[in-house]
Amino acid sequence: MQLKKICILGGSGFVGSAIVAKLSAAGYLINVLTRRYESAKHLILLPNVQVVECNSFDYHALNVALRGADVVINLLGILHQSRRLSFNAVHHQLPAQLAQICEDLNIKRLIHMSSLRADVNAPSQYLRSKAAGELALAAHRDKLNITIFKPSVIFGRGDRFINLLAGMVKFLPLVLLAKPNARFQPIWVEDVASCFVASMENDATYGRTYALAGPKVYTFRALVQAVMTTLQVKRTLIGLNDALSYAQAFAMELLPVKIMSRDNIRSMEVDSVSDQPFPAVFKLTPTSLEAVIPQYLVDQTSRGAYDRFRRSAAR
Ligand SMILES: NC(=O)c1ccc[n+]([C@@H]2O[C@H](COP(=O)([O-])OP(=O)(O)OC[C@H]3O[C@@H](n4cnc5c(N)ncnc54)[C@H](OP(=O)(O)O)[C@@H]3O)[C@@H](O)[C@H]2O)c1
Repeated sequence: MQLKKICILGGSGFVGSAIVAKLSAAGYLINVLTRRYESAKHLILLPNVQVVECNSFDYHALNVALRGADVVINLLGILHQSRRLSFNAVHHQLPAQLAQICEDLNIKRLIHMSSLRADVNAPSQYLRSKAAGELALAAHRDKLNITIFKPSVIFGRGDRFINLLAGMVKFLPLVLLAKPNARFQPIWVEDVASCFVASMENDATYGRTYALAGPKVYTFRALVQAVMTTLQVKRTLIGLNDALSYAQAFAMELLPVKIMSRDNIRSMEVDSVSDQPFPAVFKLTPTSLEAVIPQYLVDQTSRGAYDRFRRSAAR
């Protein structure tokens, strides 16, 4: 049976936008559920994409919004919890509710986004709540065809992480680096999106959980160095010890804009690295960070090229 209508939660975001673009190109009908129409309006120009305002935390509203779907994709996720919205609500209760609604509406296919190293015993609330979400879905595995993806940090145009590092090295004379030896295996957003689309109707992926990690492991320090190399800037990097890493994150929690929290630092206590090869079922060789980040970090205008030339000529 050809599956046709996809409902996607979190489709307006960084990863969601890449997945929606690929689903649209593959000919699916896509409903993007969003809190605010404005956040997803960049998607409405794509063929067969509709944006639907919905409070996904309202059981009845979600039930109504999902009616008629053949597949549900859940990408809802937060990096910082607040008094109004906890990790548990977004990463655990919401997927549990979603799976129940899928069962009630007889929507058999559910694809869910978790995170690499999510574990009930993980040091951070973020990773523990993601693991609780996976466990909640496991309870529905006999009724639903569920696939779970667990990526390391994801890079690509519009990402938060690499762009944040680029902002730091562009504007700060020296960079105080929390957890400089924490390890990551970054994966390109387009590769993640390809895996989601490839799994859609591939029954070999039903009931499976996949770690998604890129071709190379980096320490946090090496990642910042890769960004500096791309931007052709040199900054002094000062690695902070654990106590100072947590102190810096605590200070950042007090800022009005959430950049880094102590919970983020706790997530970095475990290496975001996969012990598995890239899943063969997706027939994909993951793309390297170095091949992609110049495309969105480096100013591509003629003025940018001129500035780069001046920098490399040390003028
Ligand atoms: N980016 C990474 O490096 C990375 C790595 C591992 C796992 N993941 C997981 O991948 C998924 C997508 O990540 P992303 O980077 O694309 O995130 P994102 O750009 O922040 O998008 C996530 C989506 O969640 C919704 N959302 C955000 N805050 C919300 C809130 N307070 N209440 C309700 N909805 C909210 C937003 O939908 P609306 O604004 O449209 O309502 C948004 O489109 C998440 O589950 C994340 O944990 C990401």
